[in-house]
Amino acid sequence: MNFTITEEHEMIRKVARDFAQNELLPGVIERDEKMIFAADQIKRMGELGFLGMMTAAEYGGGGMDTLSYVIAMEELSKIDNSCSVCMSVNNSLVCWGLEKFGTEEQKQKYLVPLAKGEIIGAFCLSEPEAGSDATQQRTTAEDKGDHYLVNGTKNWITNGKMASVYLVMAHSDLEAKHRGINALIIEADQEGVSTGAKEVKLGIRSSDTCQIMFQDVKVDKSRRIGEEGFGFKFAMKTLEGGRIGIAAQALGIAQGAFELALKYSQERRAFGKKIFDHQAIQFKLADMATEIEAARLLVYKSAVDKDQGKPYGLSSSMAKVFASEVAMKTATEAVQVHGGYGYVKEYHVERLMRDAKITQIYEGTSEIQRLVISRAILK
Ligand code: CAA
Repeated sequence: MNFTITEEHEMIRKVARDFAQNELLPGVIERDEKMIFAADQIKRMGELGFLGMMTAAEYGGGGMDTLSYVIAMEELSKIDNSCSVCMSVNNSLVCWGLEKFGTEEQKQKYLVPLAKGEIIGAFCLSEPEAGSDATQQRTTAEDKGDHYLVNGTKNWITNGKMASVYLVMAHSDLEAKHRGINALIIEADQEGVSTGAKEVKLGIRSSDTCQIMFQDVKVDKSRRIGEEGFGFKFAMKTLEGGRIGIAAQALGIAQGAFELALKYSQERRAFGKKIFDHQAIQFKLADMATEIEAARLLVYKSAVDKDQGKPYGLSSSMAKVFASEVAMKTATEAVQVHGGYGYVKEYHVERLMRDAKITQIYEGTSEIQRLVISRAILK
């Protein structure tokens, strides 16, 4: 692995850190508790260029590398993971997918406002009966000549209520199995589109996860991404990059929880000294720092693989499975370091512990990442 963290990367880190501290931290506990979508903060993220970081400047994006994106994701995820998941989905799944595989017309119409953060997008793959086993899509896109008629329900859709544009995987030929799936661009205000209630979740509570229902939604064929039947491969390719974003989110959760635990351990006193001076606490912090560093290297490696044009399906799954387990472990230990205070909202670590769990589930569970890794190492 050959990469350098440049001055520009450090500048991005600083901008993201300042934004997270100054504009995400105030109100994050209330937004989490009351499940309030951070509309103003997301708008600011668009203005600052966080919603289309990797998209080429000619399509309204920042034209940055994946490493820059990962660095920014880590900083925002130390504080507010409902905002950083919105950023991750918009960048990695929606903008990247459209830029890589969309037509020029699709890019001008949808990618430009998405990358500028004027609107946000959602990626609609999961269904009530098709989560990990993503080939089992039951949403249909019936071929009607010049258009498709889409019917079905998508589950667990991040940005579901606030998105203006959805990238939807739907079956046009059930007999062709996954090769009959198409990726379609559907607008949220089209006739026949409706959303379910916002899900009440353990973590990332202010993120607006919901079901999306499609009833006889007419989609012109010019809004299909790629060739007929390319939808499943489109989703798989796009998710490879998405997993780098979620791995970076997990890294940020771990780093955020560690920093809070380190600070608390130097303030809190017990048995006549700072708790940091007790070896039991020192060793916990030493383990956290070591595991976070290992996770960071995996996450950066995957980002650099992508930037250098190398395959990154294996490294992104490795980064995601490892970083998400480090996030869960570190956040749980950070609560332990805080004792009773860690169990109340004011100290922030309990939120990070709840948020950590989803990084082991979305964009492919830890079990799916192990499946991808084990298939790759067998080859
Ligand atoms: N890139 C390109 N093509 C790929 C691919 C990849 N990474 N992985 C698989 N494919 C292709 C295969 O080549 C194969 O195509 P052909 O038959 O034409 O050769 C086809 O896809 C089927 O592949 P498999 O036989 O490997 O399929 P499978 O069913 O055994 O396993 C899987 C696939 C990896 C388990 C996949 O289903 C998967 O990744 N599941 C998890 C889904 C997921 O991550 N969901 C997250 C939802 S999105 C989300 O969470 C977003 C959010 O809102 C936060």
